[in-house]
Amino acid sequence: MTAPLLRVEDLRLALAGDRASHDAVEGVSFEIGRGEAFGLVGESGCGKSITALAVMGLLRAPLSLAGGRIVLDGQEIQDASAAEMRRLRGKRIGMIFQEPMTALNPLSPVGRQIAEMFVLHEGASWNEAMDRAEEALRQVHVPSPERRIRDFPHQLSGGMRQRVMIAMALACGPDLLIADEPTTALDVTVQAEIIDLMAELCSAKGTAILMISHDLGLVANMCRNVAVMYAGRIVERQPADAIFAHPRHPYTQGLVDSLPRLGERAKRGRQKLREIAGVVPSIAAYPSGCRFNPRCPAATDICRQVAPDLTALPAGGLVRCHHHG
Ligand SMILES: Nc1ncnc2c1ncn2[C@@H]1O[C@H](COP(=O)(O)OP(=O)(O)O)[C@@H](O)[C@H]1O
Ligand SMILES: [Mg+2]
Repeated sequence: MTAPLLRVEDLRLALAGDRASHDAVEGVSFEIGRGEAFGLVGESGCGKSITALAVMGLLRAPLSLAGGRIVLDGQEIQDASAAEMRRLRGKRIGMIFQEPMTALNPLSPVGRQIAEMFVLHEGASWNEAMDRAEEALRQVHVPSPERRIRDFPHQLSGGMRQRVMIAMALACGPDLLIADEPTTALDVTVQAEIIDLMAELCSAKGTAILMISHDLGLVANMCRNVAVMYAGRIVERQPADAIFAHPRHPYTQGLVDSLPRLGERAKRGRQKLREIAGVVPSIAAYPSGCRFNPRCPAATDICRQVAPDLTALPAGGLVRCHHHG
């Protein structure tokens, strides 16, 4: 068996407060194979983004790494220097975020920003880098790339800006693409185009993806394996098809039930989709026992008292629930 491309082991992230420090993320472990698309899903505030930031070495105070290992291609990187992480980002790890406007430099033409990747990470000359930037824009299906390379970010639509981000993220052929809510700011038709483009390019180049979204439907469509996070912990991990067909954690069941199903929209008419009642607790207020218990329809005494372990399912996969059987 070959070693996975990325292994996150027992990750613990601390949030420093005025009086005390709290664990924002605890015991998070997952592996992503070469070329594999892996999904991380959960409602807003569950700890997906800070997990991704930890992998990229971009955690900032009041958050910090409090434990665990992050192994990229056999190399432990959780203690890597800022300079080493800068080298890895861009060259080995590409990143796409929700809002490309904040990741792009508003004062620099997009072609130049893509070209910079080749100059910084591959020592290309500016002339060569600009040619490659134009080619990179062509690959992400930006029309008239020879003209578009001179555009500033604000001259492009949201969807085009996200294409530019994809071009930048994949410019140096990274082994891993981290996409954190890459289409959440876009309208639905553009969302699908961007997801298809990402999936197509990554599969052509053999790039692995860590796909992060609050949208289980989107993640499950694109990924082989999916981990569901709730309140700083992974509560379930299964292959994508099994997550849909047999969600084992009540939280995952809630996420599945809240998805619009094909053909059901007409039937339901204007009826609202079932939502999970309640909200994700803040870090300082994680409940004792199972963190989902205050919102869980199946909670019993043990759920309020004892935190369940992540348990292997007989058919494969993992679930953190006292009542999964
Ligand atoms: N810079 C920060 N300072 C304080 N709390 C933060 C910071 N960033 C994130 N958090 C908290 O950490 C938790 C997880 O956040 P995040 O990873 O952004 O969630 P998600 O991406 O799943 O929506 C949330 O409770 C959020 O409020
Ligand atoms: Mg987030």
